[in-house]
Amino acid sequence: MPGLARIAPDSGASASAAVGATVHDIDPDLGRRPDPLALVIFGASGDLAHRKILPALAQLATRGSLGEEFAVVGVARSDWDDEGFRDVCRTLAPDGSDGAWDRLVDRFRYVAGDYSDDTTFTRLAEILDGFDTAYGTAGNRVYYLATIPALFGTVAGALAKHGCNRPGSGGRFARLVVEKPFGSDLASAKTLDASLHDAFREDQIFRIDHYMGKETVQNVLALRFANSIFEPIWNRRYVDHVQVTVAESLGVEHRGGFYETAGALRDIVQNHVMQVLSLTLMEPPSSMDADGIRDEKVKLLRSVLVPDTDEAVNNVVRGQYERGTIHGEDVPGYREEDGVAPSSQTETYVAMHLLVDNWRWAGVPIYVRTGKRLAARATEVSMVFQRPPHLPFAGKLARDLRPDTLTLRIQPDEGISLSFGAKVPGPAFRVRTVAMDFSYAEAFPGGTADAYERLLLDAMTGDATLFIRSDEVDQAWEIVAPIQEAFQEGEPPLAHYRAGGWGPVEADRLIEGGGRQWRNP
Ligand code: BG6
Repeated sequence: MPGLARIAPDSGASASAAVGATVHDIDPDLGRRPDPLALVIFGASGDLAHRKILPALAQLATRGSLGEEFAVVGVARSDWDDEGFRDVCRTLAPDGSDGAWDRLVDRFRYVAGDYSDDTTFTRLAEILDGFDTAYGTAGNRVYYLATIPALFGTVAGALAKHGCNRPGSGGRFARLVVEKPFGSDLASAKTLDASLHDAFREDQIFRIDHYMGKETVQNVLALRFANSIFEPIWNRRYVDHVQVTVAESLGVEHRGGFYETAGALRDIVQNHVMQVLSLTLMEPPSSMDADGIRDEKVKLLRSVLVPDTDEAVNNVVRGQYERGTIHGEDVPGYREEDGVAPSSQTETYVAMHLLVDNWRWAGVPIYVRTGKRLAARATEVSMVFQRPPHLPFAGKLARDLRPDTLTLRIQPDEGISLSFGAKVPGPAFRVRTVAMDFSYAEAFPGGTADAYERLLLDAMTGDATLFIRSDEVDQAWEIVAPIQEAFQEGEPPLAHYRAGGWGPVEADRLIEGGGRQWRNP
């Protein structure tokens, strides 16, 4: 897996000079360069392109990670022209940009048009052929679908109809990059996949879950499989339970309308939580290549006990935030947000208790929670270890002792901490919990690449390791399906929580019922 192995900046076929950068400028950790190619962004005038994809591309250009034989076409319905698109892109030049991005943007083209209109795609195909001649993009194509999900099938179908699902003349690849959500339930995910597979083979499709691009999510693999001390205790004999928290302090922002159709279960649990969980709990892969890792992830997901609807009601809490205060600022309740129905039943919080039915994890409770407008932004996984079989310093001498816990802090304040008991200095033999901390920022000053930078580069270099295979998507939908069904029937009743807290009291009861407590970041 390139993320774990360093690849020389000038390795292989990517040895051409970068736009505006010399080889020694290349960040060794992002040293791979894609082969010559043209990148097409559908939805180029939209929010995702503007906030994530184009800034990531600008960073890659500035780091010297794009070859000379590279060019971009934006496609969208907005009535822009080439120069209008370029002007927008120029505003995204990163701090410290040395002009590489601006020079690249000079070659950007824009196609304004409807996705169901053939002329949109004939113009696109002409421009791409022109790129091959003008910039040596060699018939290789990457198509990024940054449109609304309802258009994924339409665009994929139109690309196939115009022969764009195959490389252009002399090319080696044509890839399709798709963003979540991958359907809204199992049936719609299968329908979407069928329409994508009508146009592209599975090995051409790169499904993005941006959590997989986060360094600290990938670090779960390093922690587990690059060390010898953790794996022996990573199982039911030592682990009492596992907690996964994806907490956000933000609300639904300007996306109330979208969120009404999603809710926390679809928006976060089916994808980000299942991805983090599968990397944390899967068996060691036989190799770090794309299918080695994805096979193990999907195996783990298949081992998650799918609750029936009744079990789902008893093991899941769904909540919605009410007005409250976060970091000293008054914030409205969910039902007061723009685009949200005044009597909305959409959940902004989910907590659940899962079980993984395999040799390693049988009987170990997995507690998961995610919510918006919580007290802090924090994503973390905690392995909470069993208490020692016998505590010689029982009673008040050990009253401040919590179970040993290894916490993987995915964001913010990325790092790992291990908390354990230590003797409090003094004449009495008192034991208290203390922590040993590894901080990414301290160990690796200089920051880490944004998830989109990493994933965009991987899609362009053809490394599918961090992308989601269709069987993973289906399996994750299988797990949440009974819960979706229960929610549709209004079960369990919606619990309300104050913005700025840690979620509904029902979620505390869920974990306390098993004699445990949430570990608040
Ligand atoms: C997105 C969800 O997938 O992830 C958003 O649609 C959520 O609702 C976001 O806010 C969280 O991502 P991050 O990287 O900020 O944790």
